[in-house]
Amino acid sequence: MATTTSSKKKKEALGWMEWLRGWLYVVYEMLFQRITASHLHNPMPLPPLNDITCIVTGSTSGIGREIARQLAESGAHVVMAVRNTKAAQDLIQKWQNDWSGMGLPLNVEVMELDLLSLDSVVRFAEAWNSRLGPLHVLINNAGIFSIGEPQKFSKDGYEEHMQVNHLAPALLSVLLLPSLVKGSPSRIINVNSVMHYVGFVDTEDMNVVSGKRKYTSLVGYSSSKLAQVMFSSVLHKRLPAEAGISVVCVSPGIVHTNVARDLPRVVQAAYHLIPYFIFSPQEGSRSALFAATDPQVPEYCELLKADEWPVGAFLSQDCRPTNPSEEAHNTETSHEVWEKTLEMIGLPSDAVERLIEGEDIICWYGANKG
Ligand SMILES: NC(=O)c1ccc[n+]([C@@H]2O[C@H](COP(=O)([O-])OP(=O)(O)OC[C@H]3O[C@@H](n4cnc5c(N)ncnc54)[C@H](OP(=O)(O)O)[C@@H]3O)[C@@H](O)[C@H]2O)c1
Repeated sequence: MATTTSSKKKKEALGWMEWLRGWLYVVYEMLFQRITASHLHNPMPLPPLNDITCIVTGSTSGIGREIARQLAESGAHVVMAVRNTKAAQDLIQKWQNDWSGMGLPLNVEVMELDLLSLDSVVRFAEAWNSRLGPLHVLINNAGIFSIGEPQKFSKDGYEEHMQVNHLAPALLSVLLLPSLVKGSPSRIINVNSVMHYVGFVDTEDMNVVSGKRKYTSLVGYSSSKLAQVMFSSVLHKRLPAEAGISVVCVSPGIVHTNVARDLPRVVQAAYHLIPYFIFSPQEGSRSALFAATDPQVPEYCELLKADEWPVGAFLSQDCRPTNPSEEAHNTETSHEVWEKTLEMIGLPSDAVERLIEGEDIICWYGANKG
């Protein structure tokens, strides 16, 4: 009699139709983002945010810089979580000067966070949680897309796109849950990408070293963004409604930022030649700002949680809810990504439940590292 369990072959790549549809999404976003987002104002009007504390990673450049500035100008207490603290201090100085005479001084501070080091993530979370204050919004914005560069690994041993774009933000999100519970209703916003539509995650080969897939920076980037969508879907389901924490992934659109700094000169020149199609960082910040502040977002997340729907909230660059990729709906892989991620970031499998209950957990990184 044929066995049905062990004989099922594990998927090793996107099917070509999925891949083609994924690329169509990417091209569609690039060509039509300005039209689909034409109903949005630029800058996006924000409500007064005086009682809100927000952590924004990667706020020294591009989309994150815009997010941090606009949140601060709307009255929020903003924590710039960055690796280049001097650059952040200089920015704050500039923003305060530009803002002077327009209201109370901006409430912005800087804390050091290097996502290429999981020890740094743990140190950041411990420092933040020790303040015992509430956190209302965590914006995981920092990211890398090292186009054309050879494969690189962090000192923790992980492929750099996977670490910076998915593993380190996942660790940060989980470790900050105690502060997010205090700030409830609160939100975790992940600045994701339309490129996740062409991503594929092999949980047995998160570093893309087995040779089953040839590594390119595109593979590294798109896999890391899909891993983030899948992890977020499981986190969204695991967080009890009473915790009051919404988890949302957003696509900022195709945006002219430093993310293109590693592109060949000719492609960079093309970026400048097609300004009509490419968003400015201010335009690219709108989906994250919407996700962080719109009152309907928690209701929408709540609705998805109650439903048997397999994925969490994903907002496109025009701030409308959209469906993440077909592969993101693969719940079996999403749970594998969840388990593999917790293992890679040194957390126990019940870390979320225990933190929500107010218990302490031990992370393998940080001071506890053996
Ligand atoms: N631009 C686009 O078209 C586009 C499209 C889709 C999604 N996105 C996503 O949008 C997000 C923001 O990117 P961007 O376009 O604004 O790019 P960017 O201008 O290059 O900004 C990236 C930010 O991430 C920070 N960062 C990089 N590595 C870090 C690390 N190890 N630790 C801490 N911070 C680190 C950078 O800090 P440093 O200044 O110190 O390097 C910078 O502040 C990323 O997640 C990106 O994937 C962008």
